Order: sequence, then structure tokens, then C-alpha cells
Amino acid sequence: MGVHRRDFIKLLGFTGTIVALGGLTPPLIKLVSPRFPKPASTEYPRSKLVWEEGSPVKASELEINNAYVFEYPMKGIFSILINVGDENGNPIRIPPLQVPLLMQSLQEEPETPTQESIQDLTTAGRGGFYEIPGGVGPFQSIIAYNGVCQHFACQYPQLTYIPPGEKPPQELPEATRGSVLFCKCHGSVYDPYRGAAVLRGPAQRPLPTIILEWSQDTDELYAAGLAGNTIAGKFCNTCGELVGDKVIVRPATTA
Ligand code: FES
Repeated sequence: MGVHRRDFIKLLGFTGTIVALGGLTPPLIKLVSPRFPKPASTEYPRSKLVWEEGSPVKASELEINNAYVFEYPMKGIFSILINVGDENGNPIRIPPLQVPLLMQSLQEEPETPTQESIQDLTTAGRGGFYEIPGGVGPFQSIIAYNGVCQHFACQYPQLTYIPPGEKPPQELPEATRGSVLFCKCHGSVYDPYRGAAVLRGPAQRPLPTIILEWSQDTDELYAAGLAGNTIAGKFCNTCGELVGDKVIVRPATTA
């Protein structure tokens, strides 16, 4: 049975329409479908850390056991910058280490990080590890973490830094010493000496680490990426309006 000429012309027209629409389909879907989020940038900004008046932040200007904040990697998302030290104000070197992506709360915490304690940490992990490059600056003691709690995404200033010698509002296990990052919302505690590992839940994941760069020549600092988990409550770590090539650093409010 042959195709009638009029039907054949109709078929040609229909096919042509489909072919023409085929080329337009993806942008049309993007335009009309709310299920397609804004595509994420694949690259993190490299942002120079500057003070409010515009001068560059020098590593040697960051006081030991003080915390500072800056927006990174997206506007409105704070990260916490710390020059970590001991109770006597001596800087503590943060070595490169492997941090488990997912871990249970540690019940015991050594006073200072040792090779053995790092090993304990890495073997406690489930679901893989990520590497952090460790601290930067003259003593390799400057480190930064994302300030959004990995439990229910409370963020700085609810997530705050508590220096050595100051007690968090809730008791920690007997063996816990030194500074901590503490979330006031439900009491999660993170370890700034060891990749923001969880010292006490309910959070189960370390805070993402901000990758810092330090220029030995100029003593200046840059934020240049992020390692670890996705920022809690976010679709991805670059979804949103990314910060520019400079970010303002301010002293953090205290607990
Ligand atoms: S949101 Fe931080 S402990 Fe719940």
C-alpha cells in the first residue's frame, strides 16, 4: 500500500519540524524547566585576602589563636581563617594529611597532632579520604575551613572558633584539649588541628577545607579552592555567585 502524496508531504513537514526543534530543544528545556539549575563553574576563584581598607593580609599579621572570616567560595558563604596555636600562644604546624570524607565522632582527642593520631584519624574513616595540604605561612599554622556546619548548615557566627583555654558552652570528652570549632545550633565540635574532623556530633562530616596559598616573598595569602565535602545545604561548592579576585578578611566575632 503506497503513501498518498498529500500524506507524504504532511509527513515531510512534520519530520522537518521535529528536526528543526531538535536543535532548539536543549535551550528550550533550559529556559522553561526549573529542574535545570544554573550550571556550576568548574573552577574556584583565586582570591587575594585583603583587609577592609584594601591592603593585603600578611600571614605575619594574623594573630595566633585568633579567627578571621571571609566570604568564600561564594558570596554570603563564610569561611573561617585561623592561625592555630597552643595554650601558650606558640604556632602549631598543621601537616598535610588525609581526612576521611565521612567519619564517626572521635571519643578521644590527643593534645597535639602526632603521626599516630593522624593514622588513627585516617583509619577511622568510611567512604574514602581527601587530602588537605596543611597549614601555610611561616609556621605552616594558618588554615581555613568553610564556616557552614555539616549537620544542618548553621553557619558562622553560629559556627564559631573557640581558642585554647576557653571552654565551649557544652562539655567535651575529658581528653579533648586545645581549640575547637563549635556549632551553637546542636553542639557539633570540629578539630581545627586535623582537617576540621568531627570531635563530637551530631555532625558526621568534617568541614570542607579552604585551600590557601602563601607567597613567601610577599607574605600575602590567597584562597584558591576547596577540599572535602560539599558545603552543607548546597547543591555544589560553586553553585551561586562566586567571589571575585579579592575577598575581605575581618576579625571573627567571638563565642
Ligand atoms: S547545624 Fe551545627 S550542630 Fe546542627
